[in-house]
Amino acid sequence: MNSINRRLLTLLLGGLMIAGMFAGGATYLKAREELDELFDYQLAQVAHAFSRQETIAPLPSSDINYEKESELAVQVWENGDLLSATPPNRTLPIQREGISTVYSGGKQWRAFVLRVGTRTIQVSQPIEARREISVNFALRSIVPLLLTFTFFALFIWLSVRKGLRPLTQVAEEISRRSPVALDPIPLIDLPAEVLPIVDRLNLLLEKLSSAMEAQKRFVADAAHELRTPLAAVGLQLRVLERSGDDAERAEASARLKDGIDRAARLVGQLLALARIEPEALPRFSTVALTELTGEIVAERARMAIEKGIDLGMTVSEALIVTGEEESLRAMIGNLVDNAVRYTPSGGTVDVAVRRGTHEAIIEVLDTGPGISPEERGRVFDRFYRCMGADSGGSGLGLAIVKSAVERHGGTITLGEGHGGKGLKVTVGLPFL
Ligand SMILES: Nc1ncnc2c1ncn2[C@@H]1O[C@H](COP(=O)(O)OP(=O)(O)OP(=O)(O)O)[C@@H](O)[C@H]1O
Ligand SMILES: [Mg+2]
Repeated sequence: MNSINRRLLTLLLGGLMIAGMFAGGATYLKAREELDELFDYQLAQVAHAFSRQETIAPLPSSDINYEKESELAVQVWENGDLLSATPPNRTLPIQREGISTVYSGGKQWRAFVLRVGTRTIQVSQPIEARREISVNFALRSIVPLLLTFTFFALFIWLSVRKGLRPLTQVAEEISRRSPVALDPIPLIDLPAEVLPIVDRLNLLLEKLSSAMEAQKRFVADAAHELRTPLAAVGLQLRVLERSGDDAERAEASARLKDGIDRAARLVGQLLALARIEPEALPRFSTVALTELTGEIVAERARMAIEKGIDLGMTVSEALIVTGEEESLRAMIGNLVDNAVRYTPSGGTVDVAVRRGTHEAIIEVLDTGPGISPEERGRVFDRFYRCMGADSGGSGLGLAIVKSAVERHGGTITLGEGHGGKGLKVTVGLPFL
């Protein structure tokens, strides 16, 4: 999982470890350099001490500071003859005067040669012995360093935890909430880095809250709308059961059918609206718009003939748009339905599909009562029906049309038909 905590700790502790390794390495190198100088000085000191001695042989080994770890070896020559060697088994050929590094007997040596008169004194030491001492020295000085680094690591770990605490606090605050608690998260005491996130989250909560409110209202409205046809169905059913009169029974049966049709239409419209809800992800594909409109008009032909309405379609070219076929079908279907339904017998309904500058245009024109300019802004509201119009509609048709148009980023305008009569609905769908 991607975690800021882990990333910060990895970076900081990794950095600390690299710094620690550098510090350790540097301490070792510095210790080695300084010890080298010190040992070289010691070699010279021992040589000078021997030069001041009158008699050399036999050399008491206790006279020199012979420690196992420094492994000093002293050789003294008189006129080229070896006078003494301590320790006796360690002899190195005479080197040039002064300090030098020599390779002999499979080992590297540091040797200091001093000539005083006829006497030559050589003090030597294996470099390996020096290295051991520098490593020990470096290790000893690294211990406090390691302790400091451990303390720092702990400090970093605690600081990171403390620094990220506001984030965990917000997360806890959110996880403690019930799914219906949509009130904003308090912004008090939040660090500047977390503030914008919580701020956006609060905006989202606000939107969610109003969406939920709208959803609740919609369900209540839908239930209310359904109750009317269902109550009518119940009533007509009781009439049908009780009545002995054939004519009354026939009328009750017709009303019963009408009530069921209304309820079924309402449920159909509710479903269509739910499918086009802005929350649902659109599934766009290429849609043969002219062909689709033709199909929808053909489906309404029978209804138009029964009502005595001249329903026709004008096609200039076969247009193809990118869109969601189902919502486009619901949109055109509702526009043609309205035109046929609200236009009185003997009227005409014209559907046209043509190419605009940047969009495909669908136009539905009728010779019905039209919609007054005052009501044009409200007819797109859910469940809104114009005054005086009782056609058994649910008032959802134009809400469905509006949702579908918005989903496609299109435009919709309501106007008057020919000679100021009837309604002209113009929908523009951009060619994506
Ligand atoms: N072509 C039209 N001519 C005249 N009035 C119309 C036309 N189209 C819609 N209206 C008016 O606008 C109102 C809202 O229309 P809408 O399509 O949203 O609902 P509806 O037709 O009543 O119900 P539904 O379509 O959901 O069954 C209608 O009640 C009607 O009065
Ligand atoms: Mg309608």
